[in-house]
Amino acid sequence: MRDAGEMISGQELAQMQALLMGWYDRHARVMPWRVAPQDKLAGVRPDPYRVWLSEVMLQQTTVAAVRDYFHRFTARWPDVAALAAAKDAEVMAEWAGLGYYARARNLLKCARNVAVRGGFPNDRAGLLDLPGIGPYTAAAVAAIAYDEPAVVVDGNVERVMARLFAVETPLPGAKPELVRLAGLMTPQARPGDHAQAVMDLGATICTPRSPACGICPLIDHCRGRAAGLQAELPRKVAKAAKPTRQGTVWALRLPGGWLLERRPERGLLGGMWGLPGDGWDGAGGEAPAPAEWRAAGEVRHTFTHFHLTLQVLVAEGEANPNRGELVPFANFSPKDLPTVMRKAFDLASAAIKPR
Ligand code: ADE
Repeated sequence: MRDAGEMISGQELAQMQALLMGWYDRHARVMPWRVAPQDKLAGVRPDPYRVWLSEVMLQQTTVAAVRDYFHRFTARWPDVAALAAAKDAEVMAEWAGLGYYARARNLLKCARNVAVRGGFPNDRAGLLDLPGIGPYTAAAVAAIAYDEPAVVVDGNVERVMARLFAVETPLPGAKPELVRLAGLMTPQARPGDHAQAVMDLGATICTPRSPACGICPLIDHCRGRAAGLQAELPRKVAKAAKPTRQGTVWALRLPGGWLLERRPERGLLGGMWGLPGDGWDGAGGEAPAPAEWRAAGEVRHTFTHFHLTLQVLVAEGEANPNRGELVPFANFSPKDLPTVMRKAFDLASAAIKPR
């Protein structure tokens, strides 16, 4: 196969970098953790804590979904020492709804480690040594916070590289080649803004479906577009269809509160509150007793590896049930629940309202 990187001269790469930077200077998205390019050129430095927090939140989640969480986290815990001092349960509750809950536990572990060391390490290698920071986050924080020319590759960057260089090898096999091309594109000057420019381009112009090539600053350099392949790239090896699991949860309202269970630290929705359930999550158990159950309906939710249909049963009880914990109404807010449990709880509490 021809080698995409060798088809391109250093001069053309420099032109592409300059076009991209010019576009970013005009069109950078405004984000609460981002220092605008003009402010950066005037000497404002990004706060590594905010950059790190945003990058962890943005993994598997969109900018739109993250914004409010980011504001709440930074209002409550304005720096890494404050976050490190937070209780686990407080952080898990603030995280509820963002998904991929292991990220929140790793976030805290990392914050506590950084607080003990007295601050974030100031390069990629040091960041990579922290618990819960993988190659992507280390590179992103090093580039964005410290302007280290680290190669930052997320899904947006993969798509942009596959198109710019017409890489036809399907993902995930194409990954090393896309990383190499992203490295070739990474400039020594303003690497942090460059990384964010590629991500913004991928999110706003070089979008997964119907890319807006007509307004792309790199249109004249795009091999994928020249070949008419822009909408087909990156190619992907077909994924196996997700299986659907069935399950049941039981919502028991007691006089003082709801019967809930803290989920095991490891595994699905680890460390989060949930309604007692049967074996849908591999943990499972029997219906809490004593109680007279009736159906409230069903909820659907999609996890990384399966679709879930959950039957929700409700009851009002008086006696001490044989499993779960009574969480008093005053200590409980449904928004502290992970999304699937929130859906089930909302259904249950609507079904149980005094008729
Ligand atoms: N996605 C993840 N991190 C990002 C960032 N810093 N800018 C834009 N999109 C992003």
